[in-house]
Order: sequence, then structure tokens, then C-alpha cells
Amino acid sequence: MNLIMKMLAVPATALALWAASAQAATNDDIAKRLEPVGQVCVQGKECKGMEVATAAGGGGGAKTPDEVIAKHCNACHGTGLLGSPKIGDAADWGKRAKEQGGLDGLLAKAITGINSMPPKGTCADCSDSELKGAIEKMSGLK
Ligand code: HEC
Repeated sequence: MNLIMKMLAVPATALALWAASAQAATNDDIAKRLEPVGQVCVQGKECKGMEVATAAGGGGGAKTPDEVIAKHCNACHGTGLLGSPKIGDAADWGKRAKEQGGLDGLLAKAITGINSMPPKGTCADCSDSELKGAIEKMSGLK
């Protein structure tokens, strides 16, 4: 009985060792395949499509006016949809700025929304200064 157990134990050990080394090789392969992905997005650099990771990492940097406009504002302001002031239409933006008491007045309306203009122009996670940057860029106002 004891002899049989020993005979069984040897191949079992060999099998376990083989499995462990096979696993190691597999992990190495996986690590190699993942490597380039890990190098693409470095903190402090712009990472397309990884805004969430950048924000969670902290200090990922503010969204640029162009990013905010392209992702959120352009859908309406690009064409003047729903009667929105068109990007670059200085006359329309200027008139609105006068009505609201300047750039900060426009910012306040952009934050709360006005008529068909949704609050924060749909950019819920935009900071005030990110919104302001987008408004400056769209209107040409400073
Ligand atoms: C769903 C369409 C839509 C989107 C998206 C949108 N806007 Fe607007 N926006 C409007 C409309 C419509 C108006 C005009 C509202 C009115 O005067 O009745 C407007 C007006 C404004 C005004 C002028 C407000 C005023 O008091 O006259 C500002 C500033 C503004 N938008 C900023 C933004 C910014 C910044 C973004 C992107 C973050 C954005 N909007 C995204 C539709 C949109």
C-alpha cells in the first residue's frame, strides 16, 4: 500500500512542477503582451479615451477648451442648433455677453442652463474654468 502511494506521488509532483512552470511562462507571455498598453498612457500626457483614468490618477490636468467644445458644445454650437449662438459668431456672442453682463454672466447661464441650453452644456464633470475656457474659445471674448 505504502509503495503504491509513493509511486503515485512521484508523477504527481512532476506534474505539479510542470504546471507551475507552464503557468509562469503564460504569465510572462501575458505581461509581454500588456507592456505596450501600459506605456501608452503616462500621467501628465494626454491620453485619448482615458479621461476617467487620468482624473482618478489626480493631477491629470484640466480639459482644454478644444476638448470640451469637441465633446460637448459643438453638437449644438457648431451649427447653431436650437438657436444657439454659433461658434465664432462674434455678433451673437457679443450681444449675449452684453445682456448677461459679460463673460462671467455667460458662464453663469452656461452652468445653470437657459431654455434649450442644457446645464453645463452636458459636460457635467466640467469645472467652471473649463466651461469658461470653452465659452472664450467659442465666442472669441476675453
Ligand atoms: C443641446 C444643445 C447645446 C449644447 C450641447 C450646448 N449648448 Fe450652449 N446653448 C444652446 C442653446 C440652444 C443656447 C441659446 C439659449 C437661448 O438663448 O435660448 C445656448 C447658449 C449658450 C450660451 C449663452 C447663454 C446666454 O445667456 O445667452 C453659452 C455661454 C453656452 N451656450 C455655452 C455652452 C457651452 C460652454 C457648452 C459646452 C460645454 C454648450 N453651451 C453646449 C444649446 C446647447
